[in-house]
Amino acid sequence: MAGSLLTPAASGNVWVVGVLGSETGMRMSFRLILSLVLTVTLISVIFAFYQVRTYTLGRQSDLEKRAQVLAESLQETVEPLWTQGARGSLRRLVERFGNRERLDGVAIYDAQGRPDLVTPNLATRLGLEPPQLNRRVFEGVGWSHFFGSGRNAAHLYAVPIHVGGTIVGALAVFHDASYIEEQNTQLWRDTFAHVLMQMLLIGAITVVVVRWSVERPIARMTQWLHDLRAGAMDSPTELPTEQVLRPLAREATHLVTSLQVARASAEEEARLRETADSLWTRERLRVYQEAALEGSRLFVVSNREPLMHVQRGGSIEAVSPASGLVTAMEPVLRACAGTWIAHGAGNADRQTVDAEDRLGVPPDAPEYTLRRVWLTQLEEERYYDGFANEGLWPLCHIAHTRPIFRAEDWEAYQRVNAKFANALLEEMGDVEHPTVLVQDYHFALLPRLIKQSRPDARVTIFWHIPWPNPEAFGICPWQRELIEGLLGADLIGFHIQSHCNNFLETIDRALESRIEWERFAVTMGGHVTSVRPFPISVDFKENNAEPSNGYLSLRSERAAIAKGFDCHADYLGIGVDRLDYTKGIPERFRGIERFLEKHPSYQGRFTHVQIGAPSRTQIHRYQDLIADVEAEAERINQRFQTRHWKPIVLLKEHHNHDQIEPYYRMADLCLVTSLHDGMNLVAKEFVAARSDEEGVLILSLFAGASRELEDALIVNPYDTDQVADAIYYALEMSPKEKRERMRRMRRVVKHYNIYRWAANLIGAASEIRLDPVQRAQSAVAHSNASATVRPSA
Ligand code: G6P
Repeated sequence: MAGSLLTPAASGNVWVVGVLGSETGMRMSFRLILSLVLTVTLISVIFAFYQVRTYTLGRQSDLEKRAQVLAESLQETVEPLWTQGARGSLRRLVERFGNRERLDGVAIYDAQGRPDLVTPNLATRLGLEPPQLNRRVFEGVGWSHFFGSGRNAAHLYAVPIHVGGTIVGALAVFHDASYIEEQNTQLWRDTFAHVLMQMLLIGAITVVVVRWSVERPIARMTQWLHDLRAGAMDSPTELPTEQVLRPLAREATHLVTSLQVARASAEEEARLRETADSLWTRERLRVYQEAALEGSRLFVVSNREPLMHVQRGGSIEAVSPASGLVTAMEPVLRACAGTWIAHGAGNADRQTVDAEDRLGVPPDAPEYTLRRVWLTQLEEERYYDGFANEGLWPLCHIAHTRPIFRAEDWEAYQRVNAKFANALLEEMGDVEHPTVLVQDYHFALLPRLIKQSRPDARVTIFWHIPWPNPEAFGICPWQRELIEGLLGADLIGFHIQSHCNNFLETIDRALESRIEWERFAVTMGGHVTSVRPFPISVDFKENNAEPSNGYLSLRSERAAIAKGFDCHADYLGIGVDRLDYTKGIPERFRGIERFLEKHPSYQGRFTHVQIGAPSRTQIHRYQDLIADVEAEAERINQRFQTRHWKPIVLLKEHHNHDQIEPYYRMADLCLVTSLHDGMNLVAKEFVAARSDEEGVLILSLFAGASRELEDALIVNPYDTDQVADAIYYALEMSPKEKRERMRRMRRVVKHYNIYRWAANLIGAASEIRLDPVQRAQSAVAHSNASATVRPSA
């Protein structure tokens, strides 16, 4: 019981809770026992009643049958004697039946129903005078009759006596029937004894069960909640796991998590105020965006959804897709609430939305709304696989894969942009001055479509991939339409300044517009668009790693990971990528091969674990890439591997963040060798994970992240020798240099985290001044809010 677990010394409050808990528990047990006992008693009594009744009827029927047989056999003896007038024989017969067990006697009546010959002392044995015979006996019918009660209960059976066809009298046999009642009484007594036993047993079992499975778990949960409320983040008490209390435990966990988050944020805020540090946190972003947006609601549009539902076996699983965009945007939406509109791509997505195609995310404690948009298979093939990923993706990434532009893909791209625009307009409904953050190259046409229908909306598009030079972009047959679509936005964001420069130069070549280089703005048709860099980042948590037990322990943990792959290695490299040709994975493997060639002492000691999530697998180029990656890993392994070691472990499947984190924390180095990358968040995730200030980042010159993470070993991934030398340098680097480099990089990521990115973007969006014409149009726009956007718009 609660009271017995806690002592008054532990805490006044808890003691009170304990005592109250104990009294409540007792009352609860008592009520439970009482209701159980009453129910069982009632059932037992009803059951016993039916049993006694059935038993009585059975016994009575037995007695009647026995009496009838006896009376009829006596009738056959009496009738000839009566005919012969042998009264002496009749008397002897009557007297002879006076001392049988349970048979009290026999009586012979004359035709008037008067007793003529009667077993001596019959009345005494019966304990009462025998009753008058029923007249029907003299009409020829046998008569069974119970009379008297208690110890004098008796039964008579009478039959007529015939002489020459005439009824001249009657014969009756009398039995003692008191034994039936006695047996009934015994039956009732047994029943009550059983009921009593059951009551005692049920009472005892209930007390034990209630104590073990209700009171103890509740007391445990009370203690757990108390510990957490008192500030012990990891309560030594365990949460109850009993089935019945699981929903309660789940809710309590959510409650405590929220409490902990709130407390951590408050502490962080207080700390920041103390140190005048200008760090951005989730809480700070939440407060900031509320003030900056002045009540305007936030809408995010992206192709990839943050949460996908997929059918696995018989159940539905929620999966967080591998996407830098999702990694970055998810914490922002959680901080700012709002609505995220995305393609419902999971095969169980339709089963998990409401009638408006919406669901709260995370599903068990929603913080924002996800609105899913459905695409047909053909739309997906042409808009997503085709135009976005076979056209724009290789167009913007200089990775020497030729873009493919097909007219039907372009047509689908326009149609899908219009479809998303309609969904967004629907969601914005009558929201005044909404703030829209469009994400990425899938929606170049969306800003213009939205601005046309809702001039009062502040529209920003963030381009998560590089923007190439004008010559490269110029090969797109629809470059003009794409740029015009983008210039519908009030603000366009890129990761780095050089992408902004490339964008403005592309406009300069492709369109009639006014470019103001000094403030990075473009005016077209009277509408002004600002172009600015916003380097995206990750959620940096100060103490995201288990405190390490020092270098030696880290070393053995690394060895344990390698051993898990039946590979004994002292040094571990890690790479985490979607299997995409822009990521330079075969180039990375060749760098590793060269390193082992140049430094044979590391053969048998260094292993690179490559986590590669298959991506866009409908596209041939991606299928070829996967085959290439596998073949390169296989070739290099064949060349160097020994019985218990190989240079490359390829894990070709999607891993979630929690699964990746231990690899980040234990690796000696992380290899990011993108041939071209907007930012690359793996580089920043690795840095954020290294609270031990160990580990070296080897980073491609062509990833946006290299502009900020200057303390990484910056390499040209096409230069195999340079990659090999960087690996060697990283492994040989002094602990001091490692720490200094990592410390500086952590400062950068911590300072410029995802919340600062979002705050800068939202801040810039909120500063957009809607011109007077746009303001005037906003009233009209409201009434048109449900207007449909056509693809040709
Ligand atoms: C890049 C793009 C994102 C995209 C992600 C994953 O980070 O910028 O827009 O979501 O890759 O690609 P996927 O095609 O699977 O969404």
